[in-house]
Amino acid sequence: MCGIVGYIGKGRAQSVLTSGLARLEYRGYDSAGIVTFNGRATLLRAKGKVADLNKLVKSSATSDSVGIGHTRWATHGEPSVKNAHPHRAGRIYMVHNGIIENYKELKSRLKNHKFASETDSEVLAALIDSFYKDDLTEAVIKALQLVDGTYGIAVVATDNPEKIVVARNGSPLIIGVGKDETLVASDASALLGYTDRAIYLNDGEIAAITRDGIALRNLQNEPVDAEIEKIEADLAQIQKQGYAHFLLKEISEQPKTLAETLRGRVDVRNERVVLGGINMTPSQLRGIKHITIVGCGTAYYAGLLASYYIEQLVEDVTVNVVIASEFRYKSSYIPHDSVALIVSQSGETADTLACMREIQSRGVKCLGIINSVGSTIAREADGGVYIHAGPEISVASTKAFTSQTSAMLMFGIMLAQSRSINPRDVRPFIQELSILPSEIGKLIKNQSKAIAAIAKKYSSFDHAIYLGRGTAYPVALEGALKLKEISYVDANGYPAGELKHGPIALVDDRFFEVFVIPDDELLEKMVSNLQEVEARSGHIIAITNSSKKLAAETVIKVPTKLKVLTPILLNVVQQLFAYHIAVARGNDVDQPRNLAKSVTVE
Ligand code: M6R
Repeated sequence: MCGIVGYIGKGRAQSVLTSGLARLEYRGYDSAGIVTFNGRATLLRAKGKVADLNKLVKSSATSDSVGIGHTRWATHGEPSVKNAHPHRAGRIYMVHNGIIENYKELKSRLKNHKFASETDSEVLAALIDSFYKDDLTEAVIKALQLVDGTYGIAVVATDNPEKIVVARNGSPLIIGVGKDETLVASDASALLGYTDRAIYLNDGEIAAITRDGIALRNLQNEPVDAEIEKIEADLAQIQKQGYAHFLLKEISEQPKTLAETLRGRVDVRNERVVLGGINMTPSQLRGIKHITIVGCGTAYYAGLLASYYIEQLVEDVTVNVVIASEFRYKSSYIPHDSVALIVSQSGETADTLACMREIQSRGVKCLGIINSVGSTIAREADGGVYIHAGPEISVASTKAFTSQTSAMLMFGIMLAQSRSINPRDVRPFIQELSILPSEIGKLIKNQSKAIAAIAKKYSSFDHAIYLGRGTAYPVALEGALKLKEISYVDANGYPAGELKHGPIALVDDRFFEVFVIPDDELLEKMVSNLQEVEARSGHIIAITNSSKKLAAETVIKVPTKLKVLTPILLNVVQQLFAYHIAVARGNDVDQPRNLAKSVTVE
């Protein structure tokens, strides 16, 4: 949440900062600001998007070569210019991601500063200023020693703007080490095209960046060694490449991104799956009797779907799937013969990260199912699987769901292999995983147009119910989430069996009902539920691979060779359907209102 960029080098800071912010905008987009230095500070802040900030830059262009910038997702104080970062306090300019929990208490100590914003961040800027004499690093450390909460910060003092001090605790900060220039960013995507060499700060680390180098210290003001790592992503991956929206690009590229998830891991010929990163021997895998899967939003639904598959594959393992933001309030007992799968596209989600730390503190091994390489969860996990889906820029998660589910399914297959389960029971999963990318490709190629037309027809409805049974139930939940977040249609998912226990009361002309119906052993039950809604004049859309005649207003029939993995394919129909509804309603598809891509506050 929120994006930070900083720059010191030979280039024009304003353009480096604004182009970096544009790449980070998906992390928060209610206001944006930059400050650059050259004898004097030029502060530009705008409510709205980076495009609004760019208008200010046009009329106040400078050739300054040092600066910091920020794109905001409001926590304390409404989206407005005065609450936009950078914040100023005395000689200090600062940008901040995260939440200063004890900001009220700190604020009461800062009698000499006249606060201009409602933010917790300005309190930290003022605290740093109160300690600042002539050593900015020392002032930052002294201030941070008093802070409770999370932060990624970049700070510059007006009397020595040749130094940027950055620090992190619970909110990512990366230093890009270029030739004759150094960049700072809360996400590696802002560094692409400048450098592929980066220092990922750890929690509790502070770095002072000058034209001569980078010096790391810890909160006790002791020196820390910096390790330079290679950034794996490339510029093309974060560009739209001709698509109207990142969301459409990310839906469309699933055949390729899923193939990356599977590459080198699924061996169809020998009917084996190997996940190198989990660091577990077959006998350790055999010892696992319980799995806890943790995630938020789409990652949680991917976990829920994977739990059905894992329990189908391995009889002696129970799987418990938990929403990260609730896990810590439930005091759940986690047995020692457990492993936890920590699922997160960004690898930065605050609730998911907090759960992982809690589970680790109970002595249970945590494996990350992560997309973003080098992210905090990936670094702190005890092992795991990178899903290699490439950067997901659109706020709505699509390709990550497909790859996360497949990665967890691969883990389930490894558990099965460790138990010498009859290969015949594992075979369909391995074979279908290997053809899933091409089945998704066929669906997108052959059916996108028809799905767009159907979406248009239903785009004026304001309510929707999504229904599924078994493996189609998590898919129904995911379909409803996708629709609501980008189209603002009030959509909810239910297990189809629950229909008669309440939701059927909603059926009227304002609603459409999406039935996700894989051609499996639950087909007849779904058909009965569908008929119950049809009898009440519902507007039913059935998404199915079955050839059975269905009493639906609209049937989206997906021909496929898949059997067990059909629900993952049917979800792609839901993704396209939600996308086209959002487009038809004229919404900002990639940056829906009130949301941000990476939720780094609890
Ligand atoms: O980065 P994560 O996978 O941890 O994010 C989890 C959720 O915030 C995310 O899936 C969210 O629900 C998406 N906007 C859904 O499309």
